[in-house]
Amino acid sequence: MGGVTEPAIRVRQNAWTLSQSDPWHPTIYWYERAFDVLKKNEDVNDPRSLLAIANIHGTELDPNQWPPQIGVRGWNACQHASWYFLPWHRIYLHYYETILRDIIDKKLHGPSDWALPFWFYDPTTPATLALPPAFLAPLNRDGDENALYTSRRETSIMAGGRVNKDDVETSGWPNRFSSQSPFTPTFGGPQTGWSHRGSTVGSLEREPHGLVHGDVGGPFGLMSLFETAAQDPIFWLHHANIDRLWDVWRNGQGHQNPIDSAWLTRPFNFGFGADQLSMLVGQTVDTTAAPLDYRYEGVPVPTVPSVGGGLGLDGGPEEAVVEDIAPELVGASDGPVPLTGSRTSVRVDVTPPGGPLGLAPEEPPAHVFLTLQNVRGKDVGMRSYAVYIEAPSDVELDSMPHLLAGRFSTFGVMEASQSDEWEPGNGLTFSFDITSIVQGLQAVDAWDPATLNVTVVPQTEVGQGEPGVLEIGQIGVYYG
Ligand code: C2O
Repeated sequence: MGGVTEPAIRVRQNAWTLSQSDPWHPTIYWYERAFDVLKKNEDVNDPRSLLAIANIHGTELDPNQWPPQIGVRGWNACQHASWYFLPWHRIYLHYYETILRDIIDKKLHGPSDWALPFWFYDPTTPATLALPPAFLAPLNRDGDENALYTSRRETSIMAGGRVNKDDVETSGWPNRFSSQSPFTPTFGGPQTGWSHRGSTVGSLEREPHGLVHGDVGGPFGLMSLFETAAQDPIFWLHHANIDRLWDVWRNGQGHQNPIDSAWLTRPFNFGFGADQLSMLVGQTVDTTAAPLDYRYEGVPVPTVPSVGGGLGLDGGPEEAVVEDIAPELVGASDGPVPLTGSRTSVRVDVTPPGGPLGLAPEEPPAHVFLTLQNVRGKDVGMRSYAVYIEAPSDVELDSMPHLLAGRFSTFGVMEASQSDEWEPGNGLTFSFDITSIVQGLQAVDAWDPATLNVTVVPQTEVGQGEPGVLEIGQIGVYYG
C-alpha cells in the first residue's frame, strides 16, 4: 500500500469564528462563489442546479415534471418527524458539500479541501444569534451580486436582527434517541418507516431546528417551507449545526444511537447522474469514516462502538439500552384547541393510570409527558409558541422558566396536514418531558394530581389578515 495515504479528515468550521477574522474568509468566499454557480444554473434537469438539489428536500413541482432519473421518491424526500431525520440530513449535507467542493476545486480553481461551515447560534454569545455578515450584504467581496443574500427571509433578520435566544437553548434533551411510542419524548424522533412529513417531532428537530427555520424564514420566507428551505444558502449552515449538535449529544453520558437494523440498514438515495449517492444510515454514525470523512471544529469525535459486520447486524455490541416502556394516557383535552394570536389556557383532567403503570393515588409518577397531538394547519404563516404548565394568569411568563415545558414552531405543520398516497395528513405531534416541572410543583405542594393546566403562548406576531386555521387536535398527559 506504499504511497497510499489515509484520506484527510476535513474540519467543518464555525462560520461566526471565521467571520470575525474576515466576513469573507476564504471558506465563506468560496461558498458564495460555488453557490452562485448552482444558482445561475436554472436547468432543473441538471443535478448541479440549485433547484435540482433543493427539490430533493421538497418541491411543489408535479412528479410528472420531475427528471425521469430521479424516480418516484427522489424529490420531496426529506425525512422529518422520524428517527431518520438526523441521518437523512447528514447524508444530504454530504451530497451537497461534495458537489460544492468539486465545483470549487475543478471549476473555480479554488482549494481542493473545502468543507461546509456551520452557523452556531450560541445563546451565550448574543452576536452569533444574527446571520453571519456575508449572508446580509447585497454585494459579495468582489462587488458583484451576492449569492448568499436573499430578501426572502424575515425582515428583522435581514436588518441584522437575532434569532430568539430562548429558541436555541440546548439543555434538557432526552437521553433516549428514539422510541417505539410516538408519545415518548426522544432526542432523534420516533421509530418510523419512510417519513417525509411524519407525525411526532424529535426534540432536536423541534428545538432549535424548527424554531430557527421559523425565526429566519418569517411568515412566508424560503426557510419556512420544506419546498423552499434548501434554496436559502443559510439552510446548509443551519443544518450543519444541527448535525454538529447530534455529535455533541452523542458525547453526553449514556447517549447512544439506535442499534436496530431497521435504522442501520435503511438506504437513502440522492441525486442522479455522476453525482448520484446512495448510503445506509449505518454509514453515517462515524463521520470520520469514509465516505463522510469530516468532523466538527470544537467537538471531539464521539466514540463509536465497533459494531459487528460494520453495521451491527451480526452480533452488535453490548449497549446500555434504555428501557422503552409505552407511556399511558392519563388525561386529554375535551376537544381540539385552536392556536391563535393570543395566550390560550386549557385545563386537562387527569385520572390515575389503571394499566401496568398503575400507582397508588399518592404515589408520584416516574415520568410525566405532555403531548400536543395532531397540530394541523392550513393557509397560515410560520408561527412559534411556548408551552407552560400551571402558569399563573397574571404574570409575565418570561419570568417563569421553571414552568416552561418547551417551545415549538409550525415548521412542517402545513406539510404534515396534507395527505398523499403515503401519509395520512394527521399533522404533527410535539411531546415534552414535564417530569421536572411536576416534581418542582410537588416540592412546594402546588401539584394537583387530578388536573393539569396547559398554557400556549404565541412567540410571534400573528398576521391580522391571515385567513387560515391552526389547531392542536388534542392535548394529552401521559405517565411513563
Ligand atoms: Cu428537512 Cu431543516 O429541514
